[in-house]
Amino acid sequence: MLEERSVEVILAGQAETGAYLACPDFGPYRFSWFRDGSFIADAMSRVGEVDSAERFFDWCAAVIEERADVVRSGGHLHARYTADRRESLADWPTFQTDGYGLWLWALRGHCGRHGRPDARWLPAVELTVEYLRRRGADACVHWWEERSGHHAATLASIAAGLEAWGEPAELPEPEDRLDASLLALPLLGRGEAPLDELEARLVSPGGGVHRHEEDTYYGGGEWLLLTAMLGLAYRLDGRLEDAHATLAWVEAHATPDGRLPEQSQDHLLAPAWYEPWVEKWGPPPCPLLWSHAMHLTLAAELGRFGH
Ligand code: BGC
Repeated sequence: MLEERSVEVILAGQAETGAYLACPDFGPYRFSWFRDGSFIADAMSRVGEVDSAERFFDWCAAVIEERADVVRSGGHLHARYTADRRESLADWPTFQTDGYGLWLWALRGHCGRHGRPDARWLPAVELTVEYLRRRGADACVHWWEERSGHHAATLASIAAGLEAWGEPAELPEPEDRLDASLLALPLLGRGEAPLDELEARLVSPGGGVHRHEEDTYYGGGEWLLLTAMLGLAYRLDGRLEDAHATLAWVEAHATPDGRLPEQSQDHLLAPAWYEPWVEKWGPPPCPLLWSHAMHLTLAAELGRFGH
């Protein structure tokens, strides 16, 4: 069963410190992102892997508590850290606020789902709330680490996290731009995704989902995690057959040994950009733990998981 394989791959990619490495086999992704990790912990929680999820939440809490001075002095926290909780020195944008909202959201969901006491995380939750109050309205780099602005998925992630803990979210209006990260809105309980427009412009003829129309990263393929998010949006919209079709699409893109890549190359938006990325960083990331996480979440929501 691919569900069991997804759990195995995620556990294998979890460091002893609790961090989930985004892709343990891909140098530039040997970090733990708050965004990827929160969706991964949320998925593990949904399928009953309580200990794994809590080890990640402990890692998040330690990262934040170690930076209490940064938070209190109005500084910026990073989007990703090494497994042993150091800032990464990679030349890549680091200021993203969505992950701090997402960890609050995933943690609250987990505690409610399993009736777990939240006391051990409360100091870090309070610091995160303070951080988001101070910095949550700032323009920052969007989910795909390319453009800075007020992005709908980022603001929805922050709002979902604050509201999960009963904190008001006073945030700016997002810019109006079509991006498949909007598919997270229904999952985060923050409204609907523009499904008609997404289907017309970002869902490929084969059924996979592109990030946005200008994507050139590894040629701009279809992302498995976004295709699973489309399935979750279909499910919430009552389109069960379509939801099952997205699950089948994701599973059809597993390697023979059951690993899920970041993207597929069936239909590239910018094919000329595929090779230059391979020359720079090697073959595209696989397995991507976030792909496995969204596979698990969709499978669980469609009643396919044994727990
Ligand atoms: C994506 C990020 C993601 C990171 C690790 C990047 O290519 O743009 O959203 O957090 O990979 O998976």
